[in-house]
Amino acid sequence: MDYVIRKAKLDDRPAIGRLIEASARSLSRGDYSERQIEAAVASVFGVDTNLILDGTYFVAESAGTLIGCGGWSKRRTLFGGDRYAARDSGELDPESEPAKIRAFFVHPDYARRGIARAILSACESEAGARGFRSAELMATLPGLKLYRACGYEGDGLVEYDIGDGVRIEFVPMRKELR
Ligand SMILES: CC(C)(COP(=O)(O)OP(=O)(O)OC[C@H]1O[C@@H](n2cnc3c(N)ncnc32)[C@H](O)[C@@H]1OP(=O)(O)O)[C@@H](O)C(=O)NCCC(=O)NCCS
Repeated sequence: MDYVIRKAKLDDRPAIGRLIEASARSLSRGDYSERQIEAAVASVFGVDTNLILDGTYFVAESAGTLIGCGGWSKRRTLFGGDRYAARDSGELDPESEPAKIRAFFVHPDYARRGIARAILSACESEAGARGFRSAELMATLPGLKLYRACGYEGDGLVEYDIGDGVRIEFVPMRKELR
């Protein structure tokens, strides 16, 4: 399959938003209930404009269509798009703190073709080149399988209240980059 991985631009945001919704509504189905998925789409899953502005968010594009996205961050926010309130844009110390891996979503028609793995590898290379020694993330249950396959460790479930009394399980994970 022909696709390119490039940096996301601000005017990609509507298409990234549609991609995230299609991805979550299809590929999360075995792991979360419909209620959890809809609550997550309304709150925690979404575009984080800070990453695009920092130049650390990637999209995979095939024939002019966005088919995957994901990024990394030098900032403290561990997860959550623009609509999610718990955010901290303070900068991390690469020597002593892990870079954050953020918001990976692949379109269901393009799943299991190595797109997320390729974007993750680009993120790890960039974070490593900026001096980060390790990376951490908050995995969704579908994301857990990807990140384990890519060398991330962690299996302790945490639960978050994402609004309207809906709770959702995530797994904090970490990897040494060098
Ligand atoms: C998680 C997600 C991003 C993976 O994207 P993807 O492009 O399909 O993943 P890849 O093809 O790069 O997978 C790489 C490896 O991860 C593992 N993996 C990925 N998805 C898997 C699944 N559904 N079941 C089992 N293993 C899986 C496999 O080892 C896979 O290698 P293989 O296909 O050679 O066996 C995608 O399923 C998705 O968008 N899910 C919904 C949104 C979400 O929860 N995102 C994570 C946010 S933290």
